[in-house]
Amino acid sequence: MSYETILVETPAEGVGLVRLNRPQALNALNSRLMAELFDAFAAFERDEAIGCIVVTGSDKAFAAGADIRQMAESDAVEMLVRDDLTDWSRMRAITKPIIAAVSGWALGGGCELAMACDMIVASETARFGQPEVTIGIMPGAGGTQRLTRAIGKALAMEVMLGNRHLTAEEALAAGLVNRVYPVEEYLNEAIQLAARIAAMPRVAVRLIKDAVNKAYELSLTDGLDYEKRNFYLLFGTDDKREGMAAFIEKRTPQWKHR
Ligand code: CAA
Repeated sequence: MSYETILVETPAEGVGLVRLNRPQALNALNSRLMAELFDAFAAFERDEAIGCIVVTGSDKAFAAGADIRQMAESDAVEMLVRDDLTDWSRMRAITKPIIAAVSGWALGGGCELAMACDMIVASETARFGQPEVTIGIMPGAGGTQRLTRAIGKALAMEVMLGNRHLTAEEALAAGLVNRVYPVEEYLNEAIQLAARIAAMPRVAVRLIKDAVNKAYELSLTDGLDYEKRNFYLLFGTDDKREGMAAFIEKRTPQWKHR
């Protein structure tokens, strides 16, 4: 697939980078961009050289939401039949960690895209919000669920009902983002974090991501059982044998990712 609305790079060993690239619309997420983004994620998922994915926008806008010009023409039946939002489940099928590197606007679907990632590295200029109510709709790509889980009901209600934007520092304090850096540094820091994760044994990384995500779905008892099964499964890997041998022999492990 040749891309029109995203750019794809491998900026560091093991790291796949996707840049949203519709500057004229502040990276508004139209159908084409989402299809290309999910396709790029799937390609990095299949690529054995890649261990961690970063998605970013521009310094001015991560993404200013779903494309209002496209939605303005749509009625309920058309939305239901096209059902673009079900495509977002393609992101949940990605087993490799995904880091959002967010600067500037992360509004509506842009905030939801960042939250659908596993971690968020923000620039000091990042602004998170769910302004859908101001155009007569509501979040539809996870906002009511993921924002509430991330920052709690009271603040999430204010963001979604009152169109409150969170600054990067507020988002950090509320637990929405991992780290905040100056705008000149956030992308490089996100890439360095991704490179560090990509250098870890990948089967373990995959099963950790899988188990953490289950914490949102399962009771504590079922979650602990799920974790335990993933833990035991890792004892069947070459990397478990290598990791423990290297520790005992006081040397650097050589991962096979098997
Ligand atoms: N859709 C389509 N186009 C958009 C857009 C969007 N979400 N956001 C910005 N643009 C376009 C503008 O129309 C403008 O294009 P023109 O130059 O052709 O007029 C261009 O991007 C630049 O935008 P502004 O001139 O508005 O830039 P600004 O700096 O003055 O304001 C902003 C920036 C506050 C982000 C403002 O653009 C804005 O409020 N955008 C809409 C934000 C929004 O409501 N997002 C939620 C969408 S609904 C959604 O996401 C549903 C869901 O849950 C899936």
